[in-house]
Amino acid sequence: MGVFTSIDDPSSTGHEQVVFCQDTQTGLRAIIGIYSTALGPALGGTRFYPYASEEAALADVLDLSRGMAYKNALAGLDLGGGKAVIWGDPDQLKSEPLLRAYGRFVESLNGRYYTACDVGTYVADMDVIARETRYVTGRSVEHGGAGDSSVLTAWGVFQGMRAAAEHVWGAPTLNGRRVGVAGLGKVGKHLTRHLLDDHAEVVATDVDPRAREWVRANHPQVELVDDAAALVAADIDVYAPCALGGALDDDTVPALRAKVVAGAANNQLAHPGIEKLLADRGILYAPDYVVNAGGVIQVADEIEGFNFERAKLRATRIYDTTRQILRLADDEGVPPAVAADRLAERRMAEVGRLRTIHLR
Ligand SMILES: NC(=O)c1ccc[n+]([C@@H]2O[C@H](COP(=O)([O-])OP(=O)(O)OC[C@H]3O[C@@H](n4cnc5c(N)ncnc54)[C@H](O)[C@@H]3O)[C@@H](O)[C@H]2O)c1
Repeated sequence: MGVFTSIDDPSSTGHEQVVFCQDTQTGLRAIIGIYSTALGPALGGTRFYPYASEEAALADVLDLSRGMAYKNALAGLDLGGGKAVIWGDPDQLKSEPLLRAYGRFVESLNGRYYTACDVGTYVADMDVIARETRYVTGRSVEHGGAGDSSVLTAWGVFQGMRAAAEHVWGAPTLNGRRVGVAGLGKVGKHLTRHLLDDHAEVVATDVDPRAREWVRANHPQVELVDDAAALVAADIDVYAPCALGGALDDDTVPALRAKVVAGAANNQLAHPGIEKLLADRGILYAPDYVVNAGGVIQVADEIEGFNFERAKLRATRIYDTTRQILRLADDEGVPPAVAADRLAERRMAEVGRLRTIHLR
């Protein structure tokens, strides 16, 4: 086991550190990307995925770790941004020794990086990794973990949506608005409940017949449409993408009738430039990484010893952050996605600078 290589100059990508980890016996090949520790230890999940090449794995970890720095900064956390990828098919490779070998690499960074779940890794895996390292969160309830993060993710999305509604219609409520929810999974279900409690009308869709059945059985007042395209074209005020990434592209944006987009899905903008297309059409886009931060707020809280009420309070502040971003966007004449990036960079620079005031 040993660190076998690292990219020549991580600072060329803006990263503080990129660590390549290999353990031949278990088949572990992992890359840990630390974009920034300006605000504290880097936090971000471990993605276990069969990348086509090492270059593809590296590109993903660089991109994802940078994204986590921005997300954690705007979530108000004292945590920087990092991410890790394990290169390989989890169905074939995942084993106790491999996860524990990975945990030892995480431990070797001495707390500069905290890991958690992502695509291909689950709370049970975090429990195994934790047998080798202290720097892991998102653990099972039996091990002091916080459990399902979709509860606070949905709560945070609802708060971001309230701020967007206030910006467009003058009041922080969805009362009387028609909201289209695309994806009735873990987050979409909780979000639907919050919207109905706030007296919104909900129109929804999901490809999974079980999710559609859940709506019919639990919330018969929700109108179901055939697919996401029908939802985009529907007479709705707010569009909430809660399924996969890339929901906003060159086809959906021109067809969209909603005035606000606020949803849980990661990477909603299919490519750079879509934020401008939305702004040009007068559609307010509440940046995904701002409004869906409830999940990371939850796993971050677990590092201190999980307290649901404290974490919920932090997720509630997504309302204030979204408001601030939307105002900044207006003041600076830029789309909200650009304003969000600026605010995150400002916090990393201003708070990060305080470390130059030495304590000893
Ligand atoms: N769970 C969290 O804490 C969390 C945190 C941050 C971001 N997110 C993001 O939010 C999104 C939803 O997360 P989740 O945990 O609810 O996932 P999930 O897998 O539980 O739910 C996704 C739902 O979307 C449906 N779906 C898939 N493709 C669809 C399509 N083309 N049209 C309509 N429905 C479709 C699925 O059938 C499923 O019911 C994901 O993009 C996830 O990355 C989740």
